[in-house]
Amino acid sequence: MPEQNQRGKGSKGKSLFITFEGVEGSGKTTQINMLHAHLLRMKVDVIATHEPGGTLIGEEIRRVLLDPTFKQMHPMTETVLYAADRAQHFYEVIKPALDAGKVVICDRFIDSTLAYQGVARRVGMEGVQNLNEWITDDLYPDITFLLDIPYRIGLKRLQERKRSLDRMEDEESSFHEQVREAYQTLAKFYPQRFVVLNGTEKPENIHHYVMQEVTKLLG
Ligand code: TMP
Repeated sequence: MPEQNQRGKGSKGKSLFITFEGVEGSGKTTQINMLHAHLLRMKVDVIATHEPGGTLIGEEIRRVLLDPTFKQMHPMTETVLYAADRAQHFYEVIKPALDAGKVVICDRFIDSTLAYQGVARRVGMEGVQNLNEWITDDLYPDITFLLDIPYRIGLKRLQERKRSLDRMEDEESSFHEQVREAYQTLAKFYPQRFVVLNGTEKPENIHHYVMQEVTKLLG
């Protein structure tokens, strides 16, 4: 596993960069909404955003990435499109907010690309990491919450939403299981930044653990 030049959980600046990761249907959106609302009630200067997307240009890139008709997309094309989305999002949204001392909550970031493209698509960790570190000037989140669930539970949740699956969701279960394992490996290698939470627990309980960690960092 390549070295990461991280800000890490110990770096208490005024700004705070929080990311949520996990397979489809792991409950990231619910947790992000709960955390965002909680921090707003605490009068914290906070924004919630997401990848792919989060900017006008990014939403266009997202549309291309998730279009189920683009089955022929090469893993390299996919990797650089996620990176292009990240570049726009990073310089338009994330960096200005952190520079202004805000708390930024982001649904997915570099760990998604490491797990989905680096491992499950077999593009390779080092290439993905070099490309993304070049884009973000080596910036990693202060803390990353991994909502860990077996993919079959995530898939069940997706099916309950009753909309058709996008290009990534439509991948085989084995692909998503590889993503889950890749996340677990990343969490093991970078424990200074990762917090692994059991995504099958009640949302209120998960939120409680999230708040415990975030409160520590807010000081
Ligand atoms: P979402 O459903 O969480 O909005 O994410 C859209 C899909 O994009 C999801 O299947 C995960 C995938 N993804 C990657 O494969 N690589 C990435 O770098 C990111 C940010 C997302």
